Amino acid sequence: MRDNKEYLGGLLSAFLSEKGLTLSPEEAAALFEKPADSKMGDLALPCFRLAKMLRAAPPVIAAGLAEKFKGAEGIKKAEAVNGYLNFFFDAANSMAIVQYILDHPSFGSSDEGKGKVICLDFSSPNIAKRFHLGHLGTTVIGNSLRNIFRFMGYETVAINYLGDWGTQFGKLIYAYLHWSSKEAVEQKGIDELARIYVKFSEEAEKDDGLNQEARNAFHRLEEGDPEYLEIWKYFKEISLREYQKTYSLLGITFDSYNGESFYTDKMPAAVEEMREKNLLELDDGASVVRLDEEKMPPCLILKRDGSTLYPTRDIAAALWRKKEYNFDKCIYVTSAGQSLHFAQWFKVLEKMGYAWAKDGLVHVPYGTMSVNGEKLASRTGNVVLLDDLLAEAVRKCEKVIDEKHADLQDRHEVAEAVGVGAVVFNALANSRIKDSDFVWEEALSFEGNSGPYVQYTYARTSSLLRKAGDRCGLNEEYKPNEEETLLSNKLAEFPETVRRAMKDYEPSLISRYLLAVCALYNQFYHNCRILNAEEEAREYRLRLSAATRTVIGNGLDLLGIRRTEEI
Ligand code: ARG
Repeated sequence: MRDNKEYLGGLLSAFLSEKGLTLSPEEAAALFEKPADSKMGDLALPCFRLAKMLRAAPPVIAAGLAEKFKGAEGIKKAEAVNGYLNFFFDAANSMAIVQYILDHPSFGSSDEGKGKVICLDFSSPNIAKRFHLGHLGTTVIGNSLRNIFRFMGYETVAINYLGDWGTQFGKLIYAYLHWSSKEAVEQKGIDELARIYVKFSEEAEKDDGLNQEARNAFHRLEEGDPEYLEIWKYFKEISLREYQKTYSLLGITFDSYNGESFYTDKMPAAVEEMREKNLLELDDGASVVRLDEEKMPPCLILKRDGSTLYPTRDIAAALWRKKEYNFDKCIYVTSAGQSLHFAQWFKVLEKMGYAWAKDGLVHVPYGTMSVNGEKLASRTGNVVLLDDLLAEAVRKCEKVIDEKHADLQDRHEVAEAVGVGAVVFNALANSRIKDSDFVWEEALSFEGNSGPYVQYTYARTSSLLRKAGDRCGLNEEYKPNEEETLLSNKLAEFPETVRRAMKDYEPSLISRYLLAVCALYNQFYHNCRILNAEEEAREYRLRLSAATRTVIGNGLDLLGIRRTEEI
């Protein structure tokens, strides 16, 4: 108990083994599906999937299995229709689901990942630049995937692969020494670094000599010049101080901040290994690994002047992480624009003979995000900063709360939870690969398909349970009505939803599932009296509300959105 698919899968597997056929309970469970129309049952088994194995026509199989399933516990009806076997669960099943959830507060979790390590490389901003909207996707998708894998029993390592190395630091150091000061940076933070970076570009347009100065400065940094290293460390510190504020607002922590710079001394060995394995070829002076057979452009390993590149660092980093963490998978969450980069260097590792690279390295891409229909491009200066977006969301929520719930305690805290939650939910609401648009009214609506709607429903269950006062025991004979049954059946789908979200690296499956739960809960809430219902209905409805609260709460945790006990 009480994942219905698992339950039916177990039964089916047993029936088949009576006939001497083998299908594992998991494989059998995967055959069941949810009919689009609930009139067709709570679950259905498309029997054509068994036709080959049983050497019979689907309608015959359906009819035969219907007889088998009929007497099984919790099944009200098993009906064969056109080669499908449709299952209807009885009320006892619905009550059993609720009881099961109440007995298992971490409902939906599993220990199937026990002993396995998952590395997640996400967020990874380029330091000395403010967090802009382009990094929202990787930050929240990565964090949610991390929560999901943990919930499934895996050990996770959240890695913030900071962009903290490269020629741009030569420019920054030069600019800092000429046009800025510690006081200015101390006072204005990243904004000052951004200002001098822009100034450098402007000045370099007029005087090309500056670019050479910057290269020299970076070279000095690479050689380990103490003064330059000190400045670079300071830039990093200033940047992290600011990112930390955003992460803490989002409730995100990392296990490692080993950024690009960490791998500089690990690259030579990796390059040497590629050379020994005869993978490197010269291409116009640069060293590349050809990927013609894979129909991809060559992967650039060394520039003409011998300096390393983005893929070189990623390759060295993957090798290091494999040794350090012995990961089962290392997952990289970035915008879809980087898909080729990952496909290329994953292949290079395979060619180096690392079989684990094939399934062990996973790129999880996502689409672009716009705000109110406007595409964001840094070239046009049209960048939305993540901090600004979050602050604006909190401000707007505060206004709504002031107007509607002026008596609420901890108003600011609630506004923060809901405002930030609205932004996060919005970013996780659609298939990640799709381009999405952030529309204020929709994201912040308490009625629509939004974060606030889910948080509001959660708070509704909490407040109901707070008000419930004295409770009585449950009457086992109680017959749940249709609204109650629809809701409990939906709750039973949570474990399977989490598993699919993990398999597809798709947190949106959870956000959309939560919206469906909320819709059913609110329908139930409006159509059924709860606190003033007669005793036995009252008790069951409170239990159902508590089970719903558990599911929504666990779902919000997985998305990385705060629970709100009161709105
Ligand atoms: N710093 C990069 C960027 O902002 C993202 C890094 C992604 N991770 C990686 N291992 N390449 O675009």
